[in-house]
Amino acid sequence: MDNTLINDVKMSYGRCCLSPVFFDDFYDTFLKSNPKIKEKFVNTDLEKQKSLLKHGISYLLMFYEGKHIAKFKVSELKETHSKRGLDISVDMYNDWLKSLYICIKKHDPNISKDLMKAWHEVLSYSIRRMAS
Ligand code: HEM
Repeated sequence: MDNTLINDVKMSYGRCCLSPVFFDDFYDTFLKSNPKIKEKFVNTDLEKQKSLLKHGISYLLMFYEGKHIAKFKVSELKETHSKRGLDISVDMYNDWLKSLYICIKKHDPNISKDLMKAWHEVLSYSIRRMAS
């Protein structure tokens, strides 16, 4: 684990969260990315979901750091999103990542190529665990 890299990502996430429309923008982008994704959220209270996702992303960052509580949380997410539960496919995870990257670029005023690479390293590591 690279300390500078994860700290840079956490700072970037902090700046994204300061934008009042970051999560609105994310769900607009994500739901439009594929009709199958929109279908999954037909019965969802999106306002509640935005707050759940805000914490969910924090757990993905903490998982990369090896934090114990995040290991527990990410295995829970793995279970709820698995075939037995929400049945989320690998393609949907890719759409999720693409949508998130679009929004990070829009909402972090200090974004750079290196920072996007750092985000990718952290999220691909944690999502590999969640989607495996
Ligand atoms: C990869 C990062 C993701 C994170 C961190 C995440 C996080 C969460 C969290 C925290 C919840 C609340 C319930 C629970 O704890 O299981 C949830 C529910 C849900 N997620 Fe995800 N999720 C991710 C990816 C996806 C993807 C790719 C989809 C594809 C459609 C998806 C669809 C859903 C749906 C449909 C629900 C249930 C909403 C409801 O309660 O109506 N998630 N997610």
